[in-house]
Amino acid sequence: MATMTTLPLRLDRDAPGPLGAQLSSRIRDLVVAGTLARGDRLPSSRALAAELGVSRTVTEQAYEQLLAEGWLAARRGSGTFVASTVAPGVAGPGAAPRRRVVQPAADLVRLDAGTPWIDPRHAAGWRRAWREVSAARPPRGYDDPRGLPELRAALADRLARTRGLSVDADEVIVVNGTTDGLRHLLTVLPPGPVAMEDPGYRAAVETARGVGREVRDLPALAPVRDLAGVAAAYVTPAHQHPLGRVMPGADRVALLDAARAADALVVEDDYDSEFRYDVAPVPALASLDRGRVAYLGTAAKSVAPSLRLGWLVAPPELADRVNARRLVTHEGAPWPVQRAYLALLRDGYVDKVVRTARRVYAERAPRVAAALSPYAELAGPLAGMYSTWLLPAADAVRARDAARRAGFEVNLLADYCRTATLTGLVVGFGGVTDDELDRALVALVSAL
Ligand SMILES: Cc1ncc(COP(=O)(O)O)c(C=O)c1O
Repeated sequence: MATMTTLPLRLDRDAPGPLGAQLSSRIRDLVVAGTLARGDRLPSSRALAAELGVSRTVTEQAYEQLLAEGWLAARRGSGTFVASTVAPGVAGPGAAPRRRVVQPAADLVRLDAGTPWIDPRHAAGWRRAWREVSAARPPRGYDDPRGLPELRAALADRLARTRGLSVDADEVIVVNGTTDGLRHLLTVLPPGPVAMEDPGYRAAVETARGVGREVRDLPALAPVRDLAGVAAAYVTPAHQHPLGRVMPGADRVALLDAARAADALVVEDDYDSEFRYDVAPVPALASLDRGRVAYLGTAAKSVAPSLRLGWLVAPPELADRVNARRLVTHEGAPWPVQRAYLALLRDGYVDKVVRTARRVYAERAPRVAAALSPYAELAGPLAGMYSTWLLPAADAVRARDAARRAGFEVNLLADYCRTATLTGLVVGFGGVTDDELDRALVALVSAL
């Protein structure tokens, strides 16, 4: 154990803030840097005050603060030491080196499957909604974890109107997006694996794994006939992600039969069904069996992924369990976001952005098809804000690399596969401008 008589630190009297706080921060830095090791004894507050030319109140304040934070420990009669245990998670000597955070390449324009087109002409409606939020009063405490009653009523109304789902406002649970809704369901479901489409939505797979569920691969295009031993099956029936197929009626019936036989829940992720431009949106699977299917909707495709807003309609007994848990954990959706979305729904903003985006996609999807169809096979009908193209792996990689060189990031289909071996490209056309889309297509085509 070393005894420190002189600490390698200097105080800056011109810096803003009290000297005591500055001193405690400098000592904390010395511990974090390892200059002061666990067990090292510090000079007495009187000696340190003399050394630094400050009043003893300053050094006493600093020591008291660091004692309270657990960086230092006092032993009666023998002085003040660097504490030998540093709280877990606190960076200190020997703490794990900082991990590099994986981030998408910032300088590439992403042709993501999930980013919608938002017409800038609707900006006034957006601003009006948020002005209304700023003038409204937030609830005083933790509100109903199911969400704002008026929003749930507006969502129930919209689900009936656009998705053929006749639900009561009381059955709607507002969540922080699809993955959050899925997490809530999987947290209260009985133990057991979750069957998930392969290729499929990676965020959903990671969410299931994140709550400790084993993930079983469901071949995305094959009818599901057996769910024995499975707690839930997660599917995207209106627009299989990422192959784009609509689940045929017979497969819907087979899936529900298999779920009933196994007493498994079906989780329907209805993320972008409103964006059909050839036919009316196909009705939600949940409309066939409300007692067996939990329905998940999201504001991510119509308004913005960054809102982190979604809704869940679950069979009653399961919904009760989700609500009871959220009542305890306070995991409601943020009030300002709910309040803004209510205004956006009420003022017709959501309907308007969906209508204009649908027109934009209806024009862009054939453009993508015209460029890529000579080289690749379209995996599903043209719908939504992306299309998926089957290609040999080497061609797909070559095209992806050419797009990168031109400044664009296009996803490889293989990255959505777990045991499936499909290869090709997933080309999003929502989150880009017309010009960007054209340039990205030129780059892809030049490589193909
Ligand atoms: C299949 C699928 N489901 C749901 C979502 C939206 O998820 P969230 O509501 O969590 O933003 C996306 C977004 O890309 C998606 O691709």
